[in-house]
Amino acid sequence: MDKNSARARIEKLRRELHRHNHLYYVKAQPEITDFEFDLLLNELETLEKKFPEFSDDNSPTKRVGSDISEGFEQHPHEIPMLSLGNTYSREELAAFAERVRKVIDEPVEYVCELKYDGVAISLTYEQGRLVRALTRGDGVTGDDVTSNVRTIRSIPLQLSGNLQTTDNRWGTADGTTAGHVINGYPERFEIRGEVLMPLEGFRRMNEQRRKAGEQLFANPRNATAGTLKMQNSSIVAKRPLDCYLYSFAARESLFTTHFESLNACSDWGFKIPPYSKLVGSLDEVFGFIDHWADNRRELPFEIDGVVVKVNSLEQQEQLGFTAKTPRWAIAYKFKAERARTQLLSVDFQVGRTGAVTPVANLEPVPLAGTTVKRASLHNADQIAMLGLKEEDHVYVEKGGDIIPKIVGVDIGMRKGDPAPVVFISTCPECGTELTRLPGEAAHYCPNAYGCPPQIKERLEHFVSRKAMNINAAEATIELLYNEGLVHNPADLYQLRYEDVIGLDRFAERSSRNLIASIEDSKAVPFPRVLYALGIRYVGETVAKKLAIHFKSIDQLIAATKEELVEVDEIGERIAESVISFFSNEKNVRMTDELMNAGVRFAIPREEQAVSDRLGGKTFVISGKFSGYSRDELKEMVEKNGGRNVSSVSAKTSYILAGENMGPEKLKKAESLGIPVISMDDFMNMVKG
Ligand code: IVH
Repeated sequence: MDKNSARARIEKLRRELHRHNHLYYVKAQPEITDFEFDLLLNELETLEKKFPEFSDDNSPTKRVGSDISEGFEQHPHEIPMLSLGNTYSREELAAFAERVRKVIDEPVEYVCELKYDGVAISLTYEQGRLVRALTRGDGVTGDDVTSNVRTIRSIPLQLSGNLQTTDNRWGTADGTTAGHVINGYPERFEIRGEVLMPLEGFRRMNEQRRKAGEQLFANPRNATAGTLKMQNSSIVAKRPLDCYLYSFAARESLFTTHFESLNACSDWGFKIPPYSKLVGSLDEVFGFIDHWADNRRELPFEIDGVVVKVNSLEQQEQLGFTAKTPRWAIAYKFKAERARTQLLSVDFQVGRTGAVTPVANLEPVPLAGTTVKRASLHNADQIAMLGLKEEDHVYVEKGGDIIPKIVGVDIGMRKGDPAPVVFISTCPECGTELTRLPGEAAHYCPNAYGCPPQIKERLEHFVSRKAMNINAAEATIELLYNEGLVHNPADLYQLRYEDVIGLDRFAERSSRNLIASIEDSKAVPFPRVLYALGIRYVGETVAKKLAIHFKSIDQLIAATKEELVEVDEIGERIAESVISFFSNEKNVRMTDELMNAGVRFAIPREEQAVSDRLGGKTFVISGKFSGYSRDELKEMVEKNGGRNVSSVSAKTSYILAGENMGPEKLKKAESLGIPVISMDDFMNMVKG
C-alpha cells in the first residue's frame, strides 16, 4: 500500500471507529458486532505500525472507549480501570503464555474465568458498606451510577464478616498470607465485576416491551448498558440485572493470589461466579476454552469468551502493564456463532401495535445446535445498512434473542445485478399505506381496527393470563374472528353457548368452559383491565399506576396531558398515547360496552383507601428514608386518599423529604412556598 492510500485508509478507519465507539459506549446502540469492531481496530493498528508517520494521540487505538454520558456525576477511579488485550486465535494465546514464561522463570498458575458480556462496574466499599459504583468511563474517570447499582439484589450493600482490625489482621511475619483464614475486609477497597442481564430475564423483559409496543433491546448487553444509564432507579430496580465480581483491587496487597482474593470476596458476600478454574498448564487453559466454547449456550447468561489471568499476585507485579492492558491477563474471545446461507425471500409481519417487522426466509442452515430458516431484519434502516439484495448470501448470527439475525452480506457471492430488497410501502395484510413516526425506526400500519393481525393480536393480548385471563388459545381467537363472531374485546362478552357449540373443536364441555371463563373475567380488577385494553406503552406497571391514581376509567378519560404526566413515572410519551387512545371514538365505545357487560372499570371504594386523612392532597416523595422504601411510602399516601406526583409544581401540597433530597426540588419547593415535611410529620398526618 502506498503512503497516500495508507493515510486515506487510516483516516477512514479512525472516523469509523470513533463513530462505533460512540454508538457502543455512549448510545448503547452498536451497529456492528464486537468481532467486526475488532477487525477494524486490528487493521488500523497494523497500518499505524507500518506507517508511524501518521501516528496520532487521538487515534482510537490509543485509548479505551468511554461510556461517560450526560446526566451523571463523574468520579475518578482510585485505581485505573484497564481493559484486556484480546485475541481470537490460539496461537496468540500461546504467544501470551510464552511471553509470561520469559519473564517468570518459575511455574505459573493461571486462573481461567468466563468473560461475561455485560457492563464493567467498580464498587467502592468503606467500613463494609457500599459507598460508590462507577462505570468504567474512560478508565480513569467513570459515571457515578450508585443509586442504580444499589437496586441490584446480588450486590451486597453491607458485607458479611468483620472489618479487618489490627487484632485479626492477617499476614505472617514474612508478609505472606499462607495458611491464614482471611475473614476481615479492609476498611476501604474497590472491587470490580460485570453487571449483566441473565437471558431468561432479558427475554421476559423484551416480551413485555413487545406487548407494550416499545422498542426491543437487541441483546442483553445493550439492555444492561441502557438500564444502568437510566435516570430513574425505581425502573432499574424492576429490571432483572445481576452482577458477577471478578477482581479485588486495593492499594495494599492483602493476598498472595488472585484465586485466594476471590474466595475471600465470596466470604464477604459478593457473588463470585462458580465457573473459574485454577490450572497449571496451557493445555488445561485450552481445555477450559474448549469446554465453554461447546457449552456456553447452557449458561443462563451470555459470555463472549474466556479470560486467562496469572494467579500469583507477585508474578502479576513482575509482569506489569503495557500502556493500556496488563501483561498478566488476556481475553480469548469466541467468534460469534455464525453461518452463511442464502436469502430466499423477505416476509413482512404486522404486530398488535401495527409495527411491521421484516423477516428473512433463508435456505435452512445449521447454527449452534438448531436449524435456522428465518432471521430478523429488524427494520428498514437495518436492511439499508446491510445493503441487502435479492438472493444474497448472508451471514446469520445467534444473539441473546431467540431469533437469529442477519449481520452481513457476502458480496463476493453476488451474481449479476440483483434488485435491492425494498421495504414495503403498504400493509401486506390490509393494503393500507404504512406510516413512520419521526424518530422511530419502525413502520406502522395505521389501520388498527381494520387490519386482521392487529385485531387478532389485540384480542390475544386481552385474553392473556396477566390481562383478563380468559381461557382462549390463539387458535380459538383465530376461529372466533374468522367466524365473524368476535371483532373486538367487547364482542367476547356477547358470546353465548349456542354461538360456540358446534364450531370446529368445540364440544359441550369446551364451549361451557369458554363461556364460564369469560364470565369469570368480570371479576378481574381494574388495573389489569386497563392493561388488557392494549394501550400503547401501557404495560402492567404503568396500568397499575394509572388505575391507582385515577381510580376509575371516567377519571382517566377526563385527564389532561398535564394531569397525566403528574402521575409518578408517567412521561409525555405515555400520556400522549393514553390521550390518543381515548380520543378515538371506537375505543370509548368499546370501553362503554365492556363496562355495560360488567367488566370492572374502577377500584371499589372499600379497596381505595384505609382512610381519607390525606384526601385530595398531593405528595412529592424525595430522598432516602430509613425503615421504609419509597414504594411503601407511596402506597401509604394512596391508601390514605392522597396522590403521588413526581415533580414539584404549584399544585403540590407537601414534599416529604428524606435524606439527600435533590437540591433542585428543595429550591423549587421553597420558591413556591410548599411545605417540606419530615417522616415524623407524615406519620402524624397518617395516624390522624
Ligand atoms: S478482568 C485488568 N475478568 O472484559 C483486567 N474482565 O477488556 C480487568 N470482563 O472491561 C478485567 N469478564 O468488563 C476481567 N472475568 C473477567 C471478565 C472481564 C468480563 C470484561 C470487563 C473488561 C473487559 C475486558
